[in-house]
Amino acid sequence: MMKSTTALVLSLLFFACAEKKETDTDFIRENVAFACDQIGREIDVIEKNSEKFLNPTTLKADGSVFYCGYADWRSGFFPGSIWYLYELTGDEAYRPLAEKYCAAIEEAKNLTWHHDVGFMIGCSFGNGLRLTGNPQYKEVVVQAARSLSTRFRPEAGIIQSWDVDRGWMSQRGWECPVIIDNMMNLELMFEATKITDDPSFREIALAHADRTLTEQFRADGSCYHVIDYSLEDGSVRNRHTAQGYAHESAWSRGQAWAIYGYTICYRETGEQKYLDQALKTFRFMRDHKDMPDDLIPYWDMDAPDIPNALRDVSSASCIASALYEISTLDLPEADTYKTYADQIMRSLASPAYRAEPGTNGNFLLMHSVGSIPHDAEVDKPLNYADYYFLEALKRKKDIEEAIL
Ligand code: GLY
Repeated sequence: MMKSTTALVLSLLFFACAEKKETDTDFIRENVAFACDQIGREIDVIEKNSEKFLNPTTLKADGSVFYCGYADWRSGFFPGSIWYLYELTGDEAYRPLAEKYCAAIEEAKNLTWHHDVGFMIGCSFGNGLRLTGNPQYKEVVVQAARSLSTRFRPEAGIIQSWDVDRGWMSQRGWECPVIIDNMMNLELMFEATKITDDPSFREIALAHADRTLTEQFRADGSCYHVIDYSLEDGSVRNRHTAQGYAHESAWSRGQAWAIYGYTICYRETGEQKYLDQALKTFRFMRDHKDMPDDLIPYWDMDAPDIPNALRDVSSASCIASALYEISTLDLPEADTYKTYADQIMRSLASPAYRAEPGTNGNFLLMHSVGSIPHDAEVDKPLNYADYYFLEALKRKKDIEEAIL
């Protein structure tokens, strides 16, 4: 009797697991098909315009698509999304498109007036290099890392994010602002050292990661958006926000950049302090009293109008992608990170956040926030929300195919 009860429980468990795997496989298949359809519509628009590459970025106030130039920090995300479609489908038709869209932004490798070349070249050419090994792409990645290196400020041991002689950044009284987003640029530097054997790129990345670890986090694990350093002696002049609600608030995308950025640093070094920080910032978000049940964060976890505050889907998709990577580490609770990421993905793929085909300017996801203080891209689709959604989908697929 005991034996047959055990057998029954085991077989029920087996079928429950089998059913779950089946459901997850369907989830991935259905979302990949949706992405191919939706992005396919945008590819049709781009390919009909023979004059220049239209690089879809977000929606304008009038509902039309905003297409950015190569120097915009978001220029690498759409080409990178096409590489992810290529990888997710194995469809060779995506490859020449991804190559063409990368070529259209190649000049970004020479930008030295802001720090975002890591996002721009890493997400586009970096993925192309990973998937094709194209030696010309190695050159582009290394040149971008050289450009980023020009922004290293040895006194402070950091890479300066923004110049302070232009735009609204010139009106804040900053000397050498570093934003948490900059953690996302370090992957490019690690890659450049691997390609060239020149340790300087990696050394700069590690100096930046270490100083940021010391200066940019609060005791509760959350991070500041902006740290302004003295160029003279490297000391901290102030701790501010630019895109969050307040200097002391937790801007959600900043938390996502920190979780993802320190996960990369752990991958590249195996140093526990980096993983500890990624997990501490993740736990701050996970355990936050105002984290909504669907796990899509408010744009700022201290927004005064919670629970009516806007959500930021880009923060959610970036956190999900980082958590899939963390879930592959040899940690006792590794499964819990995948479960959390899966829950985010279910929410993102639900009608509350995923667009109907042919709507939303052909972007995949709705309801991101660029910057409320700048009244820019408020409750709009953003190409980086889509990029990290596809990356998360690909990581989920890899993990589940390894289990099956
Ligand atoms: N890196 C700019 C942003 O997260 O809005």
